Amino acid sequence: MKTEFQINSKTCEKSFNFVKNHGKTIVYLCSPFTNMIKPSTIDLIVNTVRIDEVVGEFVSLKKRGVNYVACCPFHNEKSPSFTVSPTKGLYKCFGCGKAGNAVHFIMEHESMSYPEALRFLAQKYNIEIEEDKNLDIEQVKAENKERESLLVALDWSSKHFEHTLFENEEGQNIGLSYFEERGYRHDTLHKFGLGYCLNQWDGFFNAATAAGYKTEYLEKGGLIKQREDETWFDFFKGRVMFPIHNLSGKVIGFGGRVLEKNVKTAKYLNSPESDVYHKSDVLYGIYFAKKSIKEHDNCYLVEGYTDVVTLHQGGLENVVASSGTSLTEGQIKLIKRFTDNVTVLYDGDFAGIKASLRGIDMLLENGLNVNVVAFPEGEDPDSYCKTLGGDAFAEFLKTNKKDFITFKSDLLLKDADGPIGKAEVMRNVAESVAKIADSLKREVYIKELSSIFDLGAEIFTGEIARIRRQKREHGDPELKTATASERQQKNIQVSKDIFDYWQERDLVRVLLLFGDLEMNDGQKVEEFIFTELESNGIELEDNLSKTICDYYTSLKADGITPNANHFVNHPDSAISQFTVTALTEKYLISDQWFERFEIQVKTIEENYVSDVVSAINRLKLRKTDKLMELISDMIKNPKDDEEQEINIKAQQEILEMRKTLSKTIGSVVIR
Ligand code: CTP
Ligand code: MN
Repeated sequence: MKTEFQINSKTCEKSFNFVKNHGKTIVYLCSPFTNMIKPSTIDLIVNTVRIDEVVGEFVSLKKRGVNYVACCPFHNEKSPSFTVSPTKGLYKCFGCGKAGNAVHFIMEHESMSYPEALRFLAQKYNIEIEEDKNLDIEQVKAENKERESLLVALDWSSKHFEHTLFENEEGQNIGLSYFEERGYRHDTLHKFGLGYCLNQWDGFFNAATAAGYKTEYLEKGGLIKQREDETWFDFFKGRVMFPIHNLSGKVIGFGGRVLEKNVKTAKYLNSPESDVYHKSDVLYGIYFAKKSIKEHDNCYLVEGYTDVVTLHQGGLENVVASSGTSLTEGQIKLIKRFTDNVTVLYDGDFAGIKASLRGIDMLLENGLNVNVVAFPEGEDPDSYCKTLGGDAFAEFLKTNKKDFITFKSDLLLKDADGPIGKAEVMRNVAESVAKIADSLKREVYIKELSSIFDLGAEIFTGEIARIRRQKREHGDPELKTATASERQQKNIQVSKDIFDYWQERDLVRVLLLFGDLEMNDGQKVEEFIFTELESNGIELEDNLSKTICDYYTSLKADGITPNANHFVNHPDSAISQFTVTALTEKYLISDQWFERFEIQVKTIEENYVSDVVSAINRLKLRKTDKLMELISDMIKNPKDDEEQEINIKAQQEILEMRKTLSKTIGSVVIR
């Protein structure tokens, strides 16, 4: 429906975006100062746009009462649970939980950043963007000019190499025939912008300087290097070139491969880190893969440039490469923008697989679902895809993929010696499962482990709980727990009480809903909540809850009364989504929660005092339960009799506290 491409014009040093929308081409100038949109402009945009018009461009909406409904564009469904409310300016899917305002919709649907989405909407509604001039514009301009110049030089170089490959005699005879021998079609070569660097010491250098490019930028881009006598030489001399693109399709670096005959040097040379190329945040092929990754809700992860190119040619476009290095958090975040599912395609050698197990654990820690496919000895995805052909290869992936835990268990069990070896493997695999934040997913894996190892599930449950407890006690930052919104995104139907942090979030909910109202003694609800937290020494553990509370207090400190708009229109989609969900869930019927913030609609909140009191008590109860767990552990392993006596006393006190709390909660009428 929509294609987007960018060009750089060297003469005016600005980039334009051409957006084709329903056949109509709009052109807009993309200022590099993307973070400096004035808050007043943001307000104007948010208040001007009509959510039904914005969403309606991408989704076909049906009128239902005052709202519109549609099948949700963010998850698969047959009957529509995606609702758009023009009066509230919000969308919400009751199936997958995605929610927010028009800006969030564009961010989510078009994979844009917050400022990008704002600019997109400003363009649509003819709103002039005012930039904030408080920042040091000159410095920002200078930095942007540097980056821009580097990008322009890289872009030209990429085109030059491509041109050399197809038009130059040596390029054709050596580079092109190499690619042709490997089975690459010309359209594939053009798509990835593959090229050739002449086998001369200064062929590229001369061409680039003659075209007016400064050595400064050519060097920064890793294209040329200086000798001791200060003359320059071509870094990629005699290699075929793989340009590396960023998310928006700009060339940010290169990998250059030697031709088969010449095996004395490294097989690949790569551009160095630069202002535009941060290796740990880049995945080769992401620009060409992102759309397909979203569509298939899965990302194939391979090791090499050639794997990506070959799979694309075979029709599998949702593939990216880590380029031979171990995975980084930045790369994982990049994948997570498009999907929660990764299928790792390994080269078929045992040592290599074993070495990359750690990278996979990192995927698990970050909440991704991981499947693995291994290839026959000596094959990599590139070679095997060529052997089988695209369709048969896709079929092979389907039938041979294993979830990571099964894969790892099988792999390590092959090597395990006797019962002790087996126990070690169990522990090792349990370590991996313990890294999964989502308790429901852990349950699923535990069932699987118990069948693989032919042992009772409780053995694994116990071991995994032990590992997680140990990590928690050591404050291990790797230990993650799934957030409510993450769960909802995964469409897992869970009853609220297994959310790890639901008590905290419930408290935030009442804070947002009733913060400004008064308790029975005339104290404001917000004061009551913050005092209770402080006097009981309760710190919120959930990041989202904490962020919202911090934002709430900072608004107060600025003399602003927080209202729904502050949170619903917050740049962070997670905050917006939480607010919309929290505020709509219990009050759907009245459908008036939003107005509370403009006119005091008392009808929906007759019970708010007891709601607030229960929320704080439930959080206290949760904290008592945690204390209880801790003390029970201590009672199991006392140091000596003396300590045990203290333990038991403490346990009794906590039990008392618990009883009192439960009674109070029970006596409060819950809606
Ligand atoms: N790599 C690198 N430097 C090297 C070797 C490898 O940067 N000296 C990176 C490249 O990104 C390469 C990836 O690691 O694509 C995987 O390496 P390898 O499997 O050896 O290469 P292939 O991608 O299989 O390339 P080819 O099929 O051309 O041999
Ligand atoms: Mn290969």
